[in-house]
Amino acid sequence: MKILVLNGPNLARLDLREKSVYGDYSYADLEKAVIGFAKAENVEIEIKQSDSETELIQLLHSAADNKVPVVFNPAAFTHYSYAIRDAVAMLKSPIIEVHISNPLSREEFRHTSVISGVVNGTIGGFGLDSYRLAIIAMKNLVK
Ligand code: DQA
Repeated sequence: MKILVLNGPNLARLDLREKSVYGDYSYADLEKAVIGFAKAENVEIEIKQSDSETELIQLLHSAADNKVPVVFNPAAFTHYSYAIRDAVAMLKSPIIEVHISNPLSREEFRHTSVISGVVNGTIGGFGLDSYRLAIIAMKNLVK
């Protein structure tokens, strides 16, 4: 089993974002941590990031075609991209939505996820550990 860990817009600039919300990490730190979590759980992963809605949709299409399980942080697209929601809905393999922060404890516009209704589950609020928890959950989903 190979899991695609997919990250959306602005996450590549994590080191420049609100430290009180996201912690003091760069995107390279995030990648390193996620690779470490996957190793510890003995699962193969591929990590990708894009700021582009089009590219994220294309990556989801290819995950759908190849039945690849996805751990997905859609970032701000979470809150309004019906196009990404429709792409997620096409997946035949499990998909878990992750967030570093807890969107429900933040601004009101973050309380809506248009993605949550078409995923197996959502994990948010645990910093980079959200990805570790998602990888563990995914292992059980694909068993
Ligand atoms: C985020 C939460 C979103 O509301 C925000 O737009 C992000 C990151 C998170 O990981 O906490 O870019 O998905």
